[in-house]
Amino acid sequence: MLARTAASRPAAVPRHIAIVMDGNGRWAKRRLLPRIAGHRQGVESLRRCIRACAERGVQALTVFAFSSENWNRPPEEVSGLMELMAKALAREVPELRQNGIRLRFVGERASLSERMKAGLAEAEAATAAGTGMGLNVCFNYGGRWDIAQAAAGLAARGEPITEAALAGAMALAHVPDPDLLIRTGGEQRISNFLLWQCAYSELYFSDTLWPDFDEAALDEALAAYAARERRFGQTSEQVAAPPQAAAG
Ligand code: IPE
Ligand code: IPE
Ligand code: MG
Repeated sequence: MLARTAASRPAAVPRHIAIVMDGNGRWAKRRLLPRIAGHRQGVESLRRCIRACAERGVQALTVFAFSSENWNRPPEEVSGLMELMAKALAREVPELRQNGIRLRFVGERASLSERMKAGLAEAEAATAAGTGMGLNVCFNYGGRWDIAQAAAGLAARGEPITEAALAGAMALAHVPDPDLLIRTGGEQRISNFLLWQCAYSELYFSDTLWPDFDEAALDEALAAYAARERRFGQTSEQVAAPPQAAAG
């Protein structure tokens, strides 16, 4: 087997990681706890993951916190999740701010309560000056909603709906597409996450439930990513060829 050249190897650390944080409910069920206890532990896991990603030089982290379809869960779970989000914001934003992490919420806001809308805007404003890792929290987000809202925005402005224009109108237009998409919890599906942006993301599925996804589990995902060859439609030989530009 040919040794992989530096040119064909992806940068060791993905610039942008996206995560479907799945498995909180099962984590709680295994402990005979209510599902919300799993979500609470999921927030702790997210804190740890944010720190670990920032330490490893990741530039953007995008996490799926609540999907457009999660409204269909039992009302007490939905209200528990809303309450947890409000509490987590109040508690975590000062630390994010201190660490230079810029928080953005991605998703449909119109149907959220006034209190929630204000909370999200406040949290974004409080971290807006952050120059470190970008943290995108997908909340009331759906990949289909994202594509539709981008198209609707272009149509309303009378702009042609081209691929580039759509890409620029998507909710994550401020960051490059995810290099690595991780889903914890054992399911191997996208569940209406970043449908447009994950066209060429490397997919990594972990059986670990989100509350148990620790630094070692993250490093395993990063090692798997580093061993992948991203070809973007080209051949292996092409991506292995030394870059065209002469070294300076
Ligand atoms: C993911 O964990 C968190 C949310 C969807 C809010 P789940 O709550 O889906 O956990 P499982 O899949 O039931 O274990
Ligand atoms: C995806 O997980 C949504 C989030 C992690 C926020 P789900 O648990 O909602 O996905 P399905 O229902 O198993 O596909
Ligand atoms: Mg789930």
